[in-house]
Amino acid sequence: MKKLTHILSLLLALFQFTVLGQSSKSPNLSTANLRTEYKTNPIGMGEMQPRLNWELLSNHKDVMQSAYHIRVAASGADLKSGKKLLWDSGKITSDQSNQVVYGGQPLKPRQRCYWQVRVWDNKGNNSGWSELAFWEMGLLLPNEWSATWISPNWEEDSTHSQPSPMLRKSFRLNGEIKSARLYATSHGLYRAEINGKKVGDELFTPGWTSYHKRLQYQTFDVTQFLQNGENAIGVLLGDGWWRGNLGWGGNRNTYGSKLALLMQLEITYKNGKTQRIMTDGSWKAETGPIIESDIYNGEIYNAQFEKPNWTKPSFDDHDWRPVKTASLDKANLVEPIGPPVKKIQEIKPIKIIHTPADETVFDFGQNMVGWVRLKVKGNAGTTIKLQHAEVLDKAGNFYIENMRAALTRLQYTLKGTGEETYEPHFTFMGFRYVKVEGFPGELTLDNLTGIVIHSDLEKSGGFECSNPLVNQLQSNIQWGQKGNFLDVPTDCPQRDERLGWTGDAQAFSRTANFNYDCAAFYTKWLADVALDQGDNGNVPFVVPNCIKPFDPRSKMAGGSTGWADVATILPWNTYLAFGDKRLLERQYESMKAWVAFMEKEAGDDHVWDTGFHFGDWLFYSVNNDNSGVSAITDKYFLTQAFFAHSTDLVRRAAEVLGKKEDLAYYTELLKKVKTAFNHEHVTPSGRLSSSTQTAYVIALQFDLLPENLRQQAANRLVENIRRYDNHITTGFLGTPYINHVLSRFGHPDVAYELLMQESYPSWLYPVKMGATTIWERWDGIKPDSTFEEASMNSFNHYAYGAIGDWLYRTVAGIDIDEQQPGYKHIIIKPQPGGKLTYAKAWHESPCGKIESGWKLDNKLLNVTLTIPANTSATLILPKAKVEGIKELKTGNGIHRFSQKGEDVEIELGSGTYSFQYPMG
Ligand code: BGC
Repeated sequence: MKKLTHILSLLLALFQFTVLGQSSKSPNLSTANLRTEYKTNPIGMGEMQPRLNWELLSNHKDVMQSAYHIRVAASGADLKSGKKLLWDSGKITSDQSNQVVYGGQPLKPRQRCYWQVRVWDNKGNNSGWSELAFWEMGLLLPNEWSATWISPNWEEDSTHSQPSPMLRKSFRLNGEIKSARLYATSHGLYRAEINGKKVGDELFTPGWTSYHKRLQYQTFDVTQFLQNGENAIGVLLGDGWWRGNLGWGGNRNTYGSKLALLMQLEITYKNGKTQRIMTDGSWKAETGPIIESDIYNGEIYNAQFEKPNWTKPSFDDHDWRPVKTASLDKANLVEPIGPPVKKIQEIKPIKIIHTPADETVFDFGQNMVGWVRLKVKGNAGTTIKLQHAEVLDKAGNFYIENMRAALTRLQYTLKGTGEETYEPHFTFMGFRYVKVEGFPGELTLDNLTGIVIHSDLEKSGGFECSNPLVNQLQSNIQWGQKGNFLDVPTDCPQRDERLGWTGDAQAFSRTANFNYDCAAFYTKWLADVALDQGDNGNVPFVVPNCIKPFDPRSKMAGGSTGWADVATILPWNTYLAFGDKRLLERQYESMKAWVAFMEKEAGDDHVWDTGFHFGDWLFYSVNNDNSGVSAITDKYFLTQAFFAHSTDLVRRAAEVLGKKEDLAYYTELLKKVKTAFNHEHVTPSGRLSSSTQTAYVIALQFDLLPENLRQQAANRLVENIRRYDNHITTGFLGTPYINHVLSRFGHPDVAYELLMQESYPSWLYPVKMGATTIWERWDGIKPDSTFEEASMNSFNHYAYGAIGDWLYRTVAGIDIDEQQPGYKHIIIKPQPGGKLTYAKAWHESPCGKIESGWKLDNKLLNVTLTIPANTSATLILPKAKVEGIKELKTGNGIHRFSQKGEDVEIELGSGTYSFQYPMG
């Protein structure tokens, strides 16, 4: 009998395990960091089949997921009971934990979806069900919008910034509120308040896209903002990218000259009834304290014109003007993909300087992007002027010539009611210094606080080593990224530009993907890259495309080699970092179109030597160059090289996506383009038509030379570097690759020499000159402390920061295996050098945190690494002998090891390891 019960209970357990899946969880395995489309619990989802991602946590080594089970339901209760599921994946045998595509019932507008996952591992553990995560669908379809676009109904002078309109409406709600959503967008920028409280912490909404093709709207959960009874909503509009200054030469009204608002507030009562408050003809409008607002020029604010409590129901708007309704497009409305811009951090100034020119200047100690919060007490009508600069000049005076036409000023007029605080609304500045004029009374450090803003990206990487200058370089790179990731990847954040320059974006993209999780940010921007492409595949210089062609005969300001290639390089780099095949698939036509453009330009001989190109922008050059030291690379050398590279990337994408015919086509095309390259630009003895570092770097990085000419080309590159006394001379196009090429072709020592070089041109020269961000030019400030020409001298341009990629991948040694992207299989290959005694880096990959570091103690190398669960790694220990590595044996996560020439290669499962050996 006992035996029978035993058998029965075993059978029951088996039944539960297999059929009901009710196996009890093991303490050694859990899941964490559940995300939907790269976000934690997003609302306003636009993907009909969102992708789900989780991490495995285990304190065991060598852990791989063997199966997963996901379920999704419309409520937490349904999920818990396992009934009425929208999707039950069942137990799927798979090690996939990244980009798992929702495969349940079709999703509807507004639908909330709760989900959870449980996983099994290769050690017989199971995690049990995870905590709940959710996503909520957006409106999805244009006809879900019953609101009408509204605009202020007064004359405006569109030749310069106009007072910001304030739009409002009071309304009554009758009943207890269960939930409420605000869906909102605008022409121009908007900030909404309900009952006196700002809605959400997002800034610069609705963000910047190619507005006429794609306009984002935001979804806010405003349940807590509303009350049974009287309520009010008020919205401020600003010129922003829509109609403010954009690009140089006083260009305005890029997308239109009128501001407009579209808003739908949807309330669900506890009794199940619903109600909508929408923009329509019943709204009222007026102007108020914002006299002028402009992204480049800043804001003029007169607090005396404030309308206290204007977003509260008690406000009397009987003398406000009626709005005008407008039948504007709603078909272009989309849910946002990328993260919103937010206030990320506050910075206290470090000192107040009185300059030789008798200016009062706050120093924040860090070149940053955002604005300051002003705290002031004084008489009504007193006006304070703040101006923003990145640097002081040689004499120590405030310097703003490099801002070009951007006024970068804030002007605040006091209302005189005690302590007043002010922050601007629709502008941002790139600055370290703030000049204050007209301040009533004594200034203290307390009067200004720096507010850092940027796209709210998750920090996903760090690098550190024993050289403090290199650490400062890493800090400058990360600050450069923070300052230039403001809804679109910009070239710079301060002068009259701040545009989505495509060349800068592609050059920095691999570094960017280490430092911050940029997957959603780039996915959003790449959608505009594709939409702004010409019918002939041409890619604009800037995206969103908002500048006029340089040559009035051209249709588009575009087609520059190394810039337009963002269309192929960025999707590919993002695919590598996140394993995002869907992105590659979506961008695939755009990638092909760009290659088709080049093919057409090149014609039958496949030699592309036409058109305008920026070339190896800002390479090392000298004035009145009679000696020929300026490192000029022939632009048509570069066109040919990037033609090959983009073709190669499309070829690789075709392979990943299983497009066989394309694969054959682009393989063939690549051959032809390479042959043409060699014919046009390589002598039989292997010299290149341009004898610059960039030329050699690009030819080697893109595998353009026949095998037998590669090593000598690398040696020539080294000779060239020696000729410049171990200095770098590359511009935007060569810089991202130079150290990779040197390391790959047996000259890591030279790469380190370039990294450690402290005199101009080099990465550390600006650091020695006190830089806290990456400069646009190698010599933005010259050794004698004078400046480069003001018309092109930004101190916050990330392109040269592309060296960050080499710090992570080579110095610390965290690299991607192209065959298993998204760090599913990780290559760890640290390469000590440069007199460093230690280096370490971490990166938060889609599967979890990777760490790699080394310490060198008298030739004894200690390598420590962490490989997240559900991934594996190949560790390559440089200059090692199998027998010299302490306690190296298989088992406990170590699968295999072998001697590979001078190195030892070790195959590892997840876990933390350390290896020690005499490097020799
Ligand atoms: C921008 C760039 C850009 C370049 C084109 C500049 O004005 O700041 O970084 O790539 O123009 O060469």
